[in-house]
Amino acid sequence: MGSKTTVSLLLHLIFLSITLTDAQNCYNTGNFTANSTYAKNRDLVLRSLASNVTANRGFYNTTIGSGNDTVYGLVHCMASSSAENCSLCVNSSIQALMTACPNQKEAISWGGNPLPCIVRYANRYFFGSLELSPTSALYNTGKMDATQFDQAWSAVKDIVTRANSTRNMLAAETTDLSSTQKIYVFMQCTPDVSQSNCGECLQQSVDDYKSCCYSYQGGAVQKPNCFFRWDLYPYYNLFPQVTSPSPSPSPSPPPPPPASPSPPFIVSSPPPTSITITKGKENTTSRTVIVTTVPTAILLALEAKARG
Ligand SMILES: *[C@@H]1O[C@H](CO)[C@@H](O)[C@H](O)[C@H]1NC(C)=O
Ligand SMILES: *[C@@H]1O[C@H](CO)[C@@H](O)[C@H](O)[C@H]1NC(C)=O
Ligand SMILES: *[C@@H]1O[C@H](CO)[C@@H](O)[C@H](O)[C@H]1NC(C)=O
Ligand SMILES: *[C@@H]1O[C@H](CO)[C@@H](O)[C@H](O)[C@H]1NC(C)=O
Ligand SMILES: *[C@@H]1O[C@H](CO)[C@@H](O)[C@H](O)[C@H]1NC(C)=O
Ligand SMILES: *[C@@H]1O[C@H](CO)[C@@H](O)[C@H](O)[C@H]1NC(C)=O
Ligand SMILES: *[C@@H]1O[C@H](CO)[C@@H](O)[C@H](O)[C@H]1NC(C)=O
Ligand SMILES: *[C@@H]1O[C@H](CO)[C@@H](O)[C@H](O)[C@H]1NC(C)=O
Ligand SMILES: *[C@@H]1O[C@H](CO)[C@@H](O)[C@H](O)[C@H]1NC(C)=O
Repeated sequence: MGSKTTVSLLLHLIFLSITLTDAQNCYNTGNFTANSTYAKNRDLVLRSLASNVTANRGFYNTTIGSGNDTVYGLVHCMASSSAENCSLCVNSSIQALMTACPNQKEAISWGGNPLPCIVRYANRYFFGSLELSPTSALYNTGKMDATQFDQAWSAVKDIVTRANSTRNMLAAETTDLSSTQKIYVFMQCTPDVSQSNCGECLQQSVDDYKSCCYSYQGGAVQKPNCFFRWDLYPYYNLFPQVTSPSPSPSPSPPPPPPASPSPPFIVSSPPPTSITITKGKENTTSRTVIVTTVPTAILLALEAKARG
């Protein structure tokens, strides 16, 4: 049994689409003062990242300044962004970063518009080293029951394991969950980390998702060195085989990702670290909740709010 039941349950899932919005983390490792040399160097670094990233095919790092006024910066556009989309994401991430972290010596911003990107700077050399936190996770508020989720999750883990043998685990893969339901997984690391560090980062992201967001039917985990997303529908135009289905006679089309107004979604972040909850602007079309730690009670409260 089971399998037929599962299929019909899956068919009844409501497909909500998630939209990645900017999430920032300002490190608590020291502040600089306005108009200081460090402040000027940070501005130069961010400007350099914005203006040089597209010419460098979506990945660029730079170092400006000397001594303790040195600022290291890195930017990475993911999911084969076009130059235009990369630039859009990076520019808006930088804006958000400067607003959220006006005087922090170190900060990171994950952008998601229209495709994922990372912008990061610090007063310490971080290129090439794996960092597993901070983490920003986000999930689709649509839920699956435990059996469905476990089944979907094992499909996700299979993809991650398979991708482990590819270079830097860059992967956009699809697998069948049932005859009518596919799982879409995308993952990518910043190119400065080694393949084994990349694997570790993604493995950790997958584990984080399961612990923060169990039973939610899709979502993403962002870390300083990698990005992981899974969903039950295609996204980012990364799954071309899906758009040209084989000409089978009767099937109902795959559930399309719903149109523009995105339903509520939640940005959260697995442990460890301090508990900070930042609510984004509330708005009829979208709501962002950033959580820097996710005790279950808070998640439940957020969920209730998001649905309420
Ligand atoms: C840095 O500045 C922020 C406010 O922008 C403040 O909350 C924080 O405590 C400061 N951190 C340090 C280490 O001074
Ligand atoms: C920074 O410089 C600007 C103009 O150069 C000035 O208006 C502003 O007051 C200065 N801010 C601080 C904190 O010194
Ligand atoms: C990076 O951008 C800056 C402008 O912000 C420019 O002066 C510099 O030449 C660029 N560097 C490279 C390597 O393109
Ligand atoms: C992003 O910023 C860079 C540098 O400031 C600029 O050259 C570019 O035109 C901007 N791109 C977009 C899409 O606004
Ligand atoms: C960029 O990062 C690499 C390590 O990934 C480093 O060797 C290189 O010096 C960095 N470039 C700049 C301009 O900081
Ligand atoms: C920068 O480093 C020098 C010594 O190298 C030290 O005297 C100075 O206090 C430092 N400045 C800041 C802002 O930490
Ligand atoms: C990826 O492969 C490495 C060795 O090749 C292994 O240590 C690691 O556990 C693998 N990770 C996953 C998620 O399979
Ligand atoms: C930019 O991203 C959007 C959303 O994924 C996509 O529809 C569009 O085709 C992309 N533009 C280019 C030039 O790739
Ligand atoms: C929702 O937010 C978007 C972007 O922040 C804004 O353009 C729009 O006006 C807002 N809508 C409402 C109803 O507040």
